[in-house]
Amino acid sequence: MAKTEPLAWIDGGVVPLAAARLPLTDRGFLFADSIFDTVRTYGGRPFLLGDHLDRLRASAAAVFLPVPWSDSELVAIANELLARHPGEASLRIMITRGDGGSGLALPEPQRPRLVVLCRPLHPPDASAYREGVSVVRPPGGQAKASGVPSHVKSGSYLANVLALREARQRGGFEALLLAADGSWSEATTSNLFVVRDGALRTPGLADDILPGITRALVLEVAASLGIAATEGAVGDADLLGADELFLTSSIKEVLPVTRVDDLPVGAGVPGPVTQRISQGFAAAVQRLQAAGTTRLADGIDPA
Ligand SMILES: Cc1ncc(COP(=O)(O)O)c(C=O)c1O
Repeated sequence: MAKTEPLAWIDGGVVPLAAARLPLTDRGFLFADSIFDTVRTYGGRPFLLGDHLDRLRASAAAVFLPVPWSDSELVAIANELLARHPGEASLRIMITRGDGGSGLALPEPQRPRLVVLCRPLHPPDASAYREGVSVVRPPGGQAKASGVPSHVKSGSYLANVLALREARQRGGFEALLLAADGSWSEATTSNLFVVRDGALRTPGLADDILPGITRALVLEVAASLGIAATEGAVGDADLLGADELFLTSSIKEVLPVTRVDDLPVGAGVPGPVTQRISQGFAAAVQRLQAAGTTRLADGIDPA
């Protein structure tokens, strides 16, 4: 097996990703009837895996999908993959509802299927962090709608796929998504932060977002740096009046946004608060990894 070959854990063992096979009758394939979570490594070890497993379980519970694997089994699978994958990786832990059921009706009993993909990590280019990226507001003011609550990380990403396609066609890097109340919720695979007068604001957990694990850590980092932060609806006035904007996700970490559509954000370059958060974030990652912390709730030291 080549050293950096992408891998998959499927049917109880590790295989090269290219050789992994799934029955076409799997409900994940047929109906996006699945949930997942994406974890990245730092120093070859998964980052905040406990938090990702908690969110995976919450997603599963919200769609009535049993998870018959214990945390220690899931951790062992992650470690088995990573032991064979030198270099930084992203792990996509997926649970589908497996086969069966009469049409859309749930199978009884359910036989969920676990698949874990282990692939080389591909964060955005260094230039995106140096210069910042642009986000695009969807035309037409349509709220995001997949029928699945936003706090559930389900396999149903088609609405986000289409929003990103539209954004890329218009020259943007990411697309912003509207919450049901017309406020800005998040982007297609990241959470949104606004900086104004030195303070952060980010859509709250009730504002149609995925509760990002990076978002949670950024809020802790801000507190430890003495940067004020509020959680709540973010409207157009917040967005267009921002001094700085940034996106967060496990893969993107803290990514400056310097344009909304064709409008510059603040001075049009990554701003000082974003840079402080970004540096504080990198330091927190080091500390958490050194301490072997797998859940943020276990506490981080102040910066
Ligand atoms: C819709 C959405 N929002 C936010 C995030 C960021 O979450 P996290 O920081 O846990 O990676 C993601 C991650 O993929 C996402 O898909």
